[in-house]
Amino acid sequence: MKGVAARYPVYDAPSKKLINLEGRINECRRKFMKAPVLGYETDELLGLSIYVRAQSRGLPVKVRVDGPAKPFFEKGRAFFYGRRGQLSMSCAHCHEKYAGKRYRSMTLSQGQTNGFPSHRLTWRKPGSLHRRFQTCSRLVRSEPFPAGSDELIDLELYLAWRGQGLLVETPSVRR
Ligand code: HEC
Repeated sequence: MKGVAARYPVYDAPSKKLINLEGRINECRRKFMKAPVLGYETDELLGLSIYVRAQSRGLPVKVRVDGPAKPFFEKGRAFFYGRRGQLSMSCAHCHEKYAGKRYRSMTLSQGQTNGFPSHRLTWRKPGSLHRRFQTCSRLVRSEPFPAGSDELIDLELYLAWRGQGLLVETPSVRR
């Protein structure tokens, strides 16, 4: 499993879709183990995801955004720069334009994903990257996309590419 998480999400030829690590784990369970698919934010799936990702700790993030992955990557980029919610703000406003500035009591980061799933003190437990996306969506008062949705997996690929070369740090600890 070493190195696997560092290259996800990947294009999955059989389904012609972009698939993230959580999706791959569930696909393996369904297809090869005839085991039930695990719900996105369940402790079981979070645990497996953290365990598999931890095998890549210290390895650089390196995702493919060319070939069949390209259209998904472009959608992820458009999502990142698109304004949404009642505040009409994009991810880029907080994590690019205002990165380093204060938001409430926090310093805005570049919104990197190499530490996820991450233990957030506010959550009092580890949570998925998609849960973080949903939290950020609510900050701008927009209706979040469901965890595991195609939209959030495209966004995940775009952010992995932005953080290309950063080392996998899972599981990180955040406020
Ligand atoms: C109103 C400002 C705001 C917007 C807009 C926003 N975020 Fe965030 N985001 C935050 C804050 C505050 C945090 C916690 C502090 C930090 O890590 O930046 C955070 C954290 C994150 C993190 C975790 C970083 C880490 O190291 O733990 C990710 C990933 C992230 N945001 C992605 C996104 C994405 C993707 C979008 C667009 C859908 C988005 N954010 C929109 C404010 C925002």
